[in-house]
Amino acid sequence: MILVDIDFCDEGRAREIAAIDLLSQPAPWPLEAILKDMRERQGEVVYLGAFYKSGMVGFVALEPRAEDLWVLQLSVDPERRRWGVGSQLIGAASVFADERGCSRIFLSVRASNRGALEFYRALGFRQREVLINYYSNGEDGIRMFLELW
Ligand SMILES: CC(C)(COP(=O)(O)OP(=O)(O)OC[C@H]1O[C@@H](n2cnc3c(N)ncnc32)[C@H](O)[C@@H]1OP(=O)(O)O)[C@@H](O)C(=O)NCCC(=O)NCCS
Repeated sequence: MILVDIDFCDEGRAREIAAIDLLSQPAPWPLEAILKDMRERQGEVVYLGAFYKSGMVGFVALEPRAEDLWVLQLSVDPERRRWGVGSQLIGAASVFADERGCSRIFLSVRASNRGALEFYRALGFRQREVLINYYSNGEDGIRMFLELW
């Protein structure tokens, strides 16, 4: 376990976010898309970064929608996995959800992403439904949720 600092990210952190996403996701978010998000959806989409010795080791992108908080993306540097970084990011997302009056956290994960499914289950998320052909490559998604209160 490493104890990370978690903070809100602005455009100055977009390159680090894109670099970690590139190493982590089958369909990574391009830098331009992250910058556009930050400029045009300020306050709607929030990025939290996890920092260890001042370098970014993971991030989560969040969108509050009424009483639910959606995890849009969550990526941890492959060299820092299984060190509790993802858990701390979801912990911070839960605090953020609470502050925004959101009682549940929702997300979708690729059906083939066994590691992520195990991770979310370990944190108490439960499966809500299967989303047929949800991803652009035709892969199914699994919608999961966590009730905070
Ligand atoms: C999924 C991901 C965010 C987990 O981050 P992490 O920092 O490694 O997770 P943690 O160290 O907090 O793991 C907490 C617990 O979750 C479970 N877990 C995490 N990754 C797992 C894996 N690959 N296989 C099985 N269980 C896993 C374990 O129970 C783990 O506790 P343990 O290490 O004491 O056994 C990370 O693997 C990642 O970035 N993956 C690529 C991107 C991705 O799939 N994102 C999520 C879907 S968008």
